[in-house]
Amino acid sequence: MEFSELVKQRRSVNFFDPDKDVSPELLKQAVELAANSPSSFNLQPWSIIEIRDASKKEKLRKLAWDQPKITDAPVVLIFLADMEGWNASSHVFEKNFEEFKKAGIMKEEQREWLAGSCRNLYGISDARSLAFACKNTGFFTGIFMLAAKSLGLDTHPMDGFDLDGVIKEFKIPENYWVPLIMSVGYFKEGSPMPPYKWRKKYEDIMVRF
Ligand SMILES: Cc1cc2nc3c(=O)[nH]c(=O)nc-3n(C[C@H](O)[C@H](O)[C@H](O)COP(=O)(O)O)c2cc1C
Repeated sequence: MEFSELVKQRRSVNFFDPDKDVSPELLKQAVELAANSPSSFNLQPWSIIEIRDASKKEKLRKLAWDQPKITDAPVVLIFLADMEGWNASSHVFEKNFEEFKKAGIMKEEQREWLAGSCRNLYGISDARSLAFACKNTGFFTGIFMLAAKSLGLDTHPMDGFDLDGVIKEFKIPENYWVPLIMSVGYFKEGSPMPPYKWRKKYEDIMVRF
C-alpha cells in the first residue's frame, strides 16, 4: 500500500471483531516495525504491557470509561513512557552508550558529556522528564498504528482512562507515565465506521509569531 493511502486508511476503529485474534507473531512484527521510531539520543523510553486475558481486559475497561472496544479487541496494549529513561543510571542509557561506542559514534570519554546533556535537557524538572518520556513514546505509538495498519490490523488509541487506577491495577513502576492504551485487532465488518474527521489545513498548521 502506498504510504499516502496507509496514512488515510488508518482510522480509530470503534468496533473490533472479537472472533478474530491477532497472532503473537503479527503483533511482534508491528512492534518491531515501530521500534524503528526516532528518539532523543536513541534512548527509546517506551515499553508495552500486552493484555489478552479476558478478566484483565474487563478490569481495564472498568478503569477506562467502560469503553467496549477494550473487551471486544483481542489485544489491548498499555504503552509506558519511562520518565527516567534519560538517566545515566538506567540500563537503556548504558546499553545505548555501549552501542554508540561499538558503532564508532561515541568514545568512552564522551560518557560524561552524554550523561550531562541528558540531565540538563530532561532531568532539571519533573515537567521536562515527563515531556521527554511522552514525546518520544508519542512517535512510537504513532508509528505503531501505521505499522499495524500496514500489516492489516486496526487500532484505537485511548486517553480516556483513570491513570492512577491503571498504574495500581497493573503494578506499573513509578518511573513510568501511561500516555496511551490501545486496542488492536480487526474491524468488525458491517459495523459503523465513524465519519472521516476534519483536519486542520496547511494554512492553519503553519503559524508565525
Ligand atoms: C492521545 C489520544 C487519545 C485518544 N483517546 C480516545 C478515547 O479515550 N476514546 C476514544 O473513543 N477515542 C480516543 N482517541 C481517538 C480520537 O478521537 C481520534 O484519533 C480522532 O477523532 C481522529 O479520528 P481517526 O483516528 O479515526 O482519524 C484518542 C486519540 C489519541 C491520539
